[in-house]
Formats: sequence, C-alpha cells, structure tokens
Amino acid sequence: MKLFIDTANVEEIKKAAKMGCIAGVTTNPSLIAKEGRDFKQVVEEICSIVDGPISAEVISLKAEEMIAEGLELAKIHKNIVIKLPITADGLQACRALTDKGIKTNITLIFSSNQALMAARAGATFVSPFLGRLDDIGVNGIELVEEIADIFAIHGINTEIIAASVRNPFHAKEAAKAGADIATIPYKVLTKMLEHPLTDAGIEKFLSDWNKK
Ligand code: E4P
Repeated sequence: MKLFIDTANVEEIKKAAKMGCIAGVTTNPSLIAKEGRDFKQVVEEICSIVDGPISAEVISLKAEEMIAEGLELAKIHKNIVIKLPITADGLQACRALTDKGIKTNITLIFSSNQALMAARAGATFVSPFLGRLDDIGVNGIELVEEIADIFAIHGINTEIIAASVRNPFHAKEAAKAGADIATIPYKVLTKMLEHPLTDAGIEKFLSDWNKK
C-alpha cells in the first residue's frame, strides 16, 4: 500500500515529503478553504514538492462545468488528478476526462457499487471514505475489502485510495484490506511513526555508547 498525504498545507507536505515515504497528495475543497489561499497557487506549490499524483477537486456539479474545470486544473501540472464526486454528472465528467488522457479520482465513495461504476467510467482512483462511515456506525474497512475483492475478481485496474483516515489503526487495516493507497493526514502519519519502545531504545543505545 502506497502512502499519500491528505492535506493542502504546504508546510505539512514539505515535512512529510522529507521522510521519503510519501507518493502523492490529496486535497479537497474543505482542506483548500482551511488554508485561506489561492487554489491554483496552492496546487502549483504542492506539485513542486511531491512528484506523484496530486488530487485537485472540482467545485461544479454539472458535467460540462466539471469537465471545463478539470481541463483547467489539469493544465497546472502533469501530475494533477481531477477529483470528482460520485454522481451521474461526476461519472460523465470522469469518462470525458479519461478519454482525453486525464487522470481522475472519484471521491465520496460509500458503497462498492459506486466504486464499480466509477471504475467502469474510467476512474484512475476511487476514494472510499472510511472515517465518515465509522462515524455513522458502519465498518469502513469492510467497504475497502469488498471493493478490493470486486476489483480483483474482475481484473479492474482502478486503484483504491483509503480516504478519511482518522488514526493509525485505519491505516494498518486499510493495508490489510487491500487498499492500493491510503491518504493520511499529517497528524496521523506522525502517530504511525511513533512508538515508546523506539524512543526508549534510542535513549538506551546512546547512554550505553556514552559510558564506553
Ligand atoms: C481525501 O481524498 C478526502 O477528501 C479526505 O480524506 C476526507 O477526509 P475527512 O472525512 O476527514 O474530511
């Protein structure tokens, strides 16, 4: 499972990129709005930090407008992936952009049928939202597992991005369930890295070394 960072904060992206384990970035309108900066400028900056798929989401809800917005966003950089919601218009835009050779990420996936339809409309990625399902008492990991099984049975190449990851447990379980990628907030990435025995081990090695 590859690791993406789920943020539009360039400082967090810079810190995560330095760790050498980040293969891409996902943003959404809420994450962009939180930064209070120009959308295009933020996306350009992100593309200069991480050399991998960078998801930028459209705001329009009508297919023709989504396509126009997607075409504009795709001009920013070769790594831009157009994020579209799983609606009939989103699927129409997905097919049109795919046919033009533009990569897409179908977002707000909450069922395996939605994921199948997105894949058949040519989506490069689908993003099932684990945390938001867990919030309503539905097992988000089971959804990832189900989509991974369906894609494997039918030889579908669309990659599964486990999204709405809230904690290290989600990341580990998404990897076990067959997600190709997990997109993870910076705070959760740092939690995944930490372990008290690692800290204690470093301290012990250093104190033994200094006694010699
Ligand atoms: C990423 O593609 C999603 O937009 C993001 O993971 C959603 O996360 P949230 O449910 O914490 O807002």
